[in-house]
Amino acid sequence: MKVVSVVGARPQFVKLAPIAKAASAAGIEHVIVHTGQHYDPMLSDVFFDDLGIPAPDVHLGVGSGSHGVQTGSMLGALDAVFDEHAPDWVLVYGDTNSTLAAAVSAVKLHYPLAHLEAGLRSFNRRMPEEHNRVLTDHAADVCLAPTEVAMGHLASEGLAERSELVGDVMTDVLFQVRDSVAGTPSALVEELGLTPGEFHVATIHRAENTDDPTRLAEIAAALSSLEHPVILLAHPRVVAKAAAHGIELTQGSLIAHAPLAYPDLIAAVLASRGVVTDSGGLQKEAFLLRVPCTTVRPETEWVETVDLGWNVLANTSDEIAAAVSRPAPQPTDAAPYGDGRAAERVIDELLRRAG
Ligand code: UD1
Repeated sequence: MKVVSVVGARPQFVKLAPIAKAASAAGIEHVIVHTGQHYDPMLSDVFFDDLGIPAPDVHLGVGSGSHGVQTGSMLGALDAVFDEHAPDWVLVYGDTNSTLAAAVSAVKLHYPLAHLEAGLRSFNRRMPEEHNRVLTDHAADVCLAPTEVAMGHLASEGLAERSELVGDVMTDVLFQVRDSVAGTPSALVEELGLTPGEFHVATIHRAENTDDPTRLAEIAAALSSLEHPVILLAHPRVVAKAAAHGIELTQGSLIAHAPLAYPDLIAAVLASRGVVTDSGGLQKEAFLLRVPCTTVRPETEWVETVDLGWNVLANTSDEIAAAVSRPAPQPTDAAPYGDGRAAERVIDELLRRAG
């Protein structure tokens, strides 16, 4: 069996790591295509290096652009790649423009399409990711869902027969990295002279939070007035938008810092008193590490983190301040994101359906 994985953005490299390992263990042919959506070394190369992912077999070098230009450039380039490799499966990950481009190219060329992390919904049609995930699920031949809630969404859209609950591959990689950094001090704590348990780790990069200067200024002001230091691991998008609008990302309690490699991020989160984010992956990682999370969005796809009390949605300055100072959540041993063996199930499912 031959699988072509298409990835392009930071969270997809994390998801690719356990899949590449499981594919290798099963002895199947696995071709990795990097669209080039993320090209900064700290958003791309460090993940391949740290997580032991084989170098991409194909790199499209597409880079940044408007949604149409970026997605269209990938789409145009992928046709030839798929035809050259003639895969049994095209495997796409999550909800970025790289996901949608590969999905459209694969189905137009009649290559079977599998969507990993299928069935997530925010029901917010202003989010570019929401269109990407809905369109990809409906194009896919198999929807590989991370949670029961995702399976429910797929069923309610008429996709039950082609859906399979496999668990969350980010759990696989997170548990391995958590164990590998256990006992080693956080490089971020040492570099900035932070006191463990007395700072927050923050990431803000969503278009909804960065593109409107008033909204970005409001979030920066809210974070800058929190009691404890807030280390903003600043994605290039937020740096560019803040610079364009004259918004300071280092002010008061708020300290801007470059993005971290994955093991350093996990070590920093483990050492922190809490996470403040609009990232999907980080909400879940915080929960799996049992670190309280505050999510700067009106809704989340990862509803289990909220239902279990480890994540609070907060939008205004007052809501953010109240959420980060809330009492510690109730301990739980719930495991809505699987047992850390999702990638094996993905490969088994692809083998079964290919057969
Ligand atoms: C993309 C995904 C988002 C995901 C995020 C993870 C889409 C629509 N969005 O958002 O779902 O959560 O990745 O990080 O696909 N830039 C750089 N260097 C890079 C990459 C981007 O400087 O390596 C800057 C450019 O100014 C670019 C901007 O960031 O225009 C946005 O990048 P883009 O890839 O369009 O989307 P992300 O915000 O990264």
